[in-house]
Amino acid sequence: MHLVRLIYVSTMTEACDTSALQRILDVSHIKNSARKITGMLCYDPSFFLQCLEGPQEAVNELYGDIIKDVRHKHVTLLEYVTVDEREFGAWSMAFAHSSNIDKHTFEKYTRGARFDPFALNSEQAKDFLVEVAHHGSRLMTRQR
Ligand SMILES: Cc1cc2nc3c(=O)[nH]c(=O)nc-3n(C[C@H](O)[C@H](O)[C@H](O)COP(=O)(O)O)c2cc1C
Repeated sequence: MHLVRLIYVSTMTEACDTSALQRILDVSHIKNSARKITGMLCYDPSFFLQCLEGPQEAVNELYGDIIKDVRHKHVTLLEYVTVDEREFGAWSMAFAHSSNIDKHTFEKYTRGARFDPFALNSEQAKDFLVEVAHHGSRLMTRQR
């Protein structure tokens, strides 16, 4: 079974209030641990940027559920690759609100323009999430 990494970006809908977001994080912690999925979810009221990594079948199945979730729309796949190792192996789902991300990290990926996760290419999206997960100043995490 291949290990894969999937990254997508989406737009948060009005159905996603604070308690809905908390439910996503709670269910992710339980279900991802059981499916050997790890990753990182970055969000703010305008977008979600998420990396899922794990066994191919488990990632495919979860992504199939996530696409149908009404708490977001415009789900856009940025990367789907086979990998040798995980980038987020320590987290069942690390998460960070955009306000907790270092300003310099954003600037590095926007060159001064407004941050638009839909404009990231696959490499930039991965590097951005890795940087946030490993160097995020006030990153909230949830260990596996
Ligand atoms: C932006 C976003 C990210 C999500 N990430 C995960 C995740 O990492 N793991 C997970 O199990 N569910 C995640 N969900 C929730 C799933 O869409 C789904 O509601 C959940 O897996 C529960 O499915 P079930 O009702 O079949 O148990 C996410 C939802 C959204 C909107």
